[in-house]
Amino acid sequence: MSPNLGALAPASPSGPSLARQAPIGIFDSGLGGLSVLRAVHAMLPAESIVYAADSRYAPYGARDADFIADRTLAICSWLVAQGAKALVVACNTATAESIALVREKLSVPLVGVEPGIKPAVQQSKSRVVGVLATQVTLASARFQALLERHGGDCRFLCQPGHGLVEAIERCDVGSPDLHARLQGYLAPMLEAGADTLVLGCTHYPFLDAAIRDIVGERMTLIDTSVAIARQLERVLGQNDLLAAPDASLSIPRFCSTADGAHLRQMALTLLHIDAPVERVDIPSRRTATAPQAA
Ligand code: DGL
Repeated sequence: MSPNLGALAPASPSGPSLARQAPIGIFDSGLGGLSVLRAVHAMLPAESIVYAADSRYAPYGARDADFIADRTLAICSWLVAQGAKALVVACNTATAESIALVREKLSVPLVGVEPGIKPAVQQSKSRVVGVLATQVTLASARFQALLERHGGDCRFLCQPGHGLVEAIERCDVGSPDLHARLQGYLAPMLEAGADTLVLGCTHYPFLDAAIRDIVGERMTLIDTSVAIARQLERVLGQNDLLAAPDASLSIPRFCSTADGAHLRQMALTLLHIDAPVERVDIPSRRTATAPQAA
């Protein structure tokens, strides 16, 4: 009898080939991780994917560290229980606050994300670099260490993207209000001579067109999603977990802690994937007592 493969594979598959066919779990506070999923799906089309959006509790960007770590661990554990063979924490904020904890608690291969400071420093000619990320990411010790390690001789203009995640969660990637907000964030960077902009939040690649409208060709945009997909490929290879290239192609399994309508719309509009979204309940210590209705 052929085993039940793909996104719904049982936890801890027994043989190596079953393990290879298990899905990759990708997690974000909301819709932003779809930018990472897009790159993973393009680079590794034989891989099954389970995507978990914690949209009920998004944005994480102004939450406290304990809340972010609590939700990240709960969702990563849930993905492992769904049979995930490896995890991508496709959220800069969650990575900054909790990747060490997740590594300590879960034994699956794990890939996190961080703002692309290193590629920005390699590419900037003016040596002035703008960084757009959540307030939590910018204030994190991990981000400060990243700047110290890779910042070189560049000057960094770090701007919290207040309101941007909220807009994208509403599927707003180009309204006049959003443009005005972005203009307010980007104009000072342009005036200061920044020629490179780090998109330090996985939601922001979906603002690519709106940002281009404002900065034209004056800035190189640094989006690390392709590098993350490459890193995932390396990690899967090192663990002998790459799906067989002839595995049947599957559409991702989309799950959301909210009603999922926006996730479905975003996946369709920006990724051209039309798939249902399952509403899932993932309790955690900090949310255990919250009412579960929408
Ligand atoms: N996509 C998340 C990130 O990369 C957004 C965090 C949030 O929910 O504020 O940081």
